[in-house]
Order: sequence, then structure tokens, then C-alpha cells
Amino acid sequence: MPSPALHFVPSATGRGVAGLGRAAPVRAGQRVLSAPGLTLARRHAGGAPPAAATTDGSASASQHRRRASSSSLGCSSSSSSSSSPSSSSSSSSDARLGPMAASAAGIRAIGIASAAASSSSSTGGKKRRGGGGGGGGSGTVAAGAAGSSNNGADAADKQQLTRDIGPSSAAAPPPADVAARAAAQLAATAEPSNMGHRARGALSPDTLTVHGGEAHGRVRPGVPDSLTTPIVQTSTYTFRDTAELIAYQEGTHTSFEYGRYGNPTVRAVEEKLMALEGAEDALLSASGMSSATTLLLALVPQGGHIVTTTDCYRRTRQFIQTVLPKMGISCTVIDPSDLDGLERALREHAVSLFFSESPTNPYLRCVDVRRIAELCAPSGAIVCIDSTFATPCNSKALDLGADLVLHSATKYLAGHNDVLAGCVAGRADLVARVRAMHNVLGGVIDPHAAYLLLRGMKTLSLRVARQNATALDLAARLERHPAVARVHYPGLPSHPDHAIARRQMPGGCGGVVSFEVAGDLWDTASVIDGVRLPYIAPSLGGVETLIEQPTVISYWDQGAEKRAAIGIKDSLVRYACGVEDAGDLWADLEQALDGVLVRQAEAAKGRREGGGGGGGGQQGHAQQQQQQQQQKQQEQQEQAAAAH
Ligand SMILES: Cc1ncc(COP(=O)(O)O)c(C=O)c1O
Repeated sequence: MPSPALHFVPSATGRGVAGLGRAAPVRAGQRVLSAPGLTLARRHAGGAPPAAATTDGSASASQHRRRASSSSLGCSSSSSSSSSPSSSSSSSSDARLGPMAASAAGIRAIGIASAAASSSSSTGGKKRRGGGGGGGGSGTVAAGAAGSSNNGADAADKQQLTRDIGPSSAAAPPPADVAARAAAQLAATAEPSNMGHRARGALSPDTLTVHGGEAHGRVRPGVPDSLTTPIVQTSTYTFRDTAELIAYQEGTHTSFEYGRYGNPTVRAVEEKLMALEGAEDALLSASGMSSATTLLLALVPQGGHIVTTTDCYRRTRQFIQTVLPKMGISCTVIDPSDLDGLERALREHAVSLFFSESPTNPYLRCVDVRRIAELCAPSGAIVCIDSTFATPCNSKALDLGADLVLHSATKYLAGHNDVLAGCVAGRADLVARVRAMHNVLGGVIDPHAAYLLLRGMKTLSLRVARQNATALDLAARLERHPAVARVHYPGLPSHPDHAIARRQMPGGCGGVVSFEVAGDLWDTASVIDGVRLPYIAPSLGGVETLIEQPTVISYWDQGAEKRAAIGIKDSLVRYACGVEDAGDLWADLEQALDGVLVRQAEAAKGRREGGGGGGGGQQGHAQQQQQQQQQKQQEQQEQAAAAH
């Protein structure tokens, strides 16, 4: 089905109030512009350019953007400022695929059907840090900090910056009848609407995933009656005439100006995220890594110090440990449960930022966000949680006291393994600094990708509920299988962070289960190769179940020694549940695990009979040699690339 794309015609379009009702009533002939921290009422007459709005007008939007961008890159003082098992999974010997498994697995399933027999954290309450936490100290050079030139942007600057970066507040007025309808919708949703300002508990995630950032109160650009949010497929925005352009420069006409600074479709996703996370602002970007790297560059000053945790997405670790040191940024790495280590780091360093996943990848460790936020508060160290594995349905890091939450939206949020995206949400002043850096670095998401994300997010609650239940069910079954040495799932009492998970993941513990096969690298590989439903692929959180052996898929180039040093075991499997039927998934996984027992029994028999380990062993040796060769080649290629 074609996507509801449309071309944006600024002069004929209107864009009203942001989000799920965060506006004042709209009167006919009057236009309400609303963005976090800003509400502007503007008279509008016919087709004439909108008149001046009630802004201070002290500096133009673009001037502020430039200022923010340059200060974010330039030199300044630091200013860091359980659910029950699925009933359908009970018959592990059920040979038929459930309908959901078939629809998700698609062609592959057809081929195997017969074989399958087997904020208030932030400004609202917690900390309003003008600039204390920066690690650079006076005279050092700040690598981040849009507002760092004066140890935190002053109020006018911040408001202007907010307007600058938050053009959800629109370009042209909606027709009066549309505005009136929007007002009526807003009135109907009244109280629960102010989600961007952290009015908690008003609407459930089930509702917010569908409506957040979209229907209620929103007048869509161009097509006010379109049920879905249109894809505004444009790289730039036009000005009617020089007068309008000057009005824009002086801050009295609001526009996105250029695709790198914003887009209405992208803004709709950001507002849905704000509603779901209870965030003051959000910033969407082209990938989770773009969000992470932009955030770190924006918020950690030159010479700053980061505290992070041992279990971590490999590329994030790589950026922190190999790129940031070029700016004099150092790092303390602690075990996710090592709060003493955090206290020590806070005592010994001017910590700018605490950054951790929760749950982590791949061992699903959970950090105690509330306690960490309490420990970081006195020094003003920013707390950022990569909540990719949790989703806002299972855990809200901002409510627990974090300043920012980050997602690889590629995973659960988008949910269909068809789009890359990332986002940062939380305190408006911090998101503004990240946005200023993003405007410079340019990791912009395409509007069509943003639309896919928006559509995917509508079913987030449904998908995550299923994935939570399936993962818990499989984790419990895995723990009882003789070919499994250990299961890592925070929903199980055996997990070291089970108590934390119970406290801070009320929705469930997510759809990823990691487990160790009772065997070696090749026994483990036989499980990966033996399952028929999951695809062998990196990533997680989508509708299709994915399986991977971290040693092979993510860490092969590191060599055994390095892998051991960072705790990646050859026997580890990461199993990311999709939305297929849990019984089908277990039957499939069980037969692959049973295969390990058969394989090991045959190898033992071969050894007893003096055959040197049996056929499997011979084959294993050949494979090992081939892979060693591949590893060598890869190392040589990497060395060549580095030299280049
Ligand atoms: C926890 C976590 N954070 C960040 C990322 C990076 O996200 P992306 O792949 O969207 O760049 C990943 C990717 O797997 C991840 O697992």
C-alpha cells in the first residue's frame, strides 16, 4: 500500500498545536503556536504573512541557531550544567505454526512448516543545573554545551533557542473550522493532555502509542482531514517573500527553514516520544548511534569525564573509548551494580555524564536508575539511560530520575526491522544542546523513515506485551533444559538484578533473553544453525524473532582474549523474541537444544571408539581453521583501512 506521502505547500498549509493537547484554546482567526516552553498567539488575516507574534524578538531564530551551533562546537567554559507464561506455549511438541508465527516468519515459515515439529526528574523537580557538573574546569575547552558560554543559557536565550529548535509551532495558520475542531478535541481530552510536561498517569501507553503526537489537537500540514500524519517529503521550506524571510530572521515568523533543522513528520514522532517517556522535549535522528554520539559530543566538555558500565553496545563503547579520548575525555567503567565505584568516580573526577544501558546488551543487567540519579545530583552530573531494551512501555527512566533517555528506535519503537532511527528525550535544556549539535553534525532522519517509525510505534504496546510474555516464558523453559548452562533474563529470580527489574520495570522485562549453551563455540553455533524460525541477524525488538551468537556476529574481529576481557562468552546466545506464537518458538528452540545433546553424545561416542572426536569434531576443526583464516584476513583489512 502506498504511503500517504504528500508535498508540503507552506503557503497553503497550517500547523497548529503540538502533541496530545498541549495548547490553549484556539479562536477563529487566531493562531496558537505551541512548543515546549513556548505558547504564542498570533493574529492572522487571510493570505497575508502572519503578523508579529508575542516573542521578545531580541535575536532572530537563525541567529540563535547559529549561536547555539557555534557555541556547541567552540571554546567555552564547561557547563555540564512478570507476566505468566503464554498459555499457547504449553504444548512444546505442537508441530503447527500459530498464525502469528506464520505471518511474521513469512516465506521462511512456509519452507519449514512441516519441519517445525519440533521530568519531573528534570526541570520539574529534580535538578536544574546551571552549569555545575562540567568536568573541564575553568579555562578548559568545552566540546559540547550549546548554552555553555554563560554557564547555562539565560532564560531569554533558552526561550529563543526553544523556539528556534522547536518549530512544531508551525508555519502557517489552519483554517478557522479546523482550528475550532482542534480546540474542541483538546477540550475533550482536557486534563490528561499535558504529557510533554510530565503529567503522569493520565493516559496509558496503550493509548499514547496510538494518539501521542498525532491526532488530538493537531492540525496536520496540508491535509487536515488525513487520519494519518503525512510524510512531508521536503528538504527545504520556502518563504513567501523577503518580508516573511526577514520576519523569520527576526524571530517573528516560525519555520523549519531547512530539512536539517526539522520536519513536521519528524516532529510528530518526537512528540509521540515525549508523551510516552514523559519528556519535556525529544530529538529524533538517523540511528541510535547518531543519537548517542551527538549526545556525548554535545554534553561532555573537552577534558570531561564519563562514567559508564561494563556491559554495553559495542559501538557505543568504541566511541567512548576511542573517539572521545581525542578530546581529552576520559572514562570510568563500572559494573552495572557497582554504586561504590560510581561514588568513587564522582569523588575523584569532575564527572560530566553517567551513561548506561538498562537493561544492558547482551547480559540484560539493570542499573538502579533512582539511586544513580540521587548519587549524581549533588555534582550535577547528567544521567542518561539507553533504554532501548526496556522501551517506555516497560520502564520510564525519566520518572526514575534520569535526565535523558536514549533509544535505538531501530529496535522496539519501530518494531518491524525495516528502518534505522534513534532518539534522545528528556530535559528541554539538555535536548536543546543535543539538537544544536545535531543541526551541525547532520544525522537527520529521512521523513519517510520517520513515518515508518510513527506507524510502528502505534503497535508498540501490543508488541512489547507479547514480547515480554514470550521472553519470560522461554527464559523459564530454557533454565530447565539440560543443554543450557545459564539464562540471563531480569524477569527470572536467578538474574543478579531481578530485584531492581521488579522495581523499575513494572511493564515487563523486554523481549530479549540471553543464555549460555552447556558446550563450546560449535555446540552453540549448532543451536544458532538448528533453529528454524528465528533469522540469524543482529538487532532486536522487531516482529520477527532474531538469534545471534555475539562472539561470531559482533565480536569475531576482537579475538578470544579481548572477548574474554569484556565478558563475551563463546557459548552465549542472544535470542530476541518477535511476536510469533510462544509455543512455536519454544518447540523450535527446544529441538535445536536437543540437537546439542545428540551432538555431544555422538562426539563422546566417537572419542570412546577412538575416532578422534567423531564426524562432528572433524567438521568442527575444518570450520575452525577456515574461520581463523577469515579472522586473519579481516584483521589485515582493518589494519590496512586504519593505515589508510
Ligand atoms: C542498546 C543499544 N543502543 C544503541 C544502539 C545503536 O543503535 P542503531 O543501530 O540504531 O544505530 C544499539 C544497536 O544495536 C543498541 O543495542
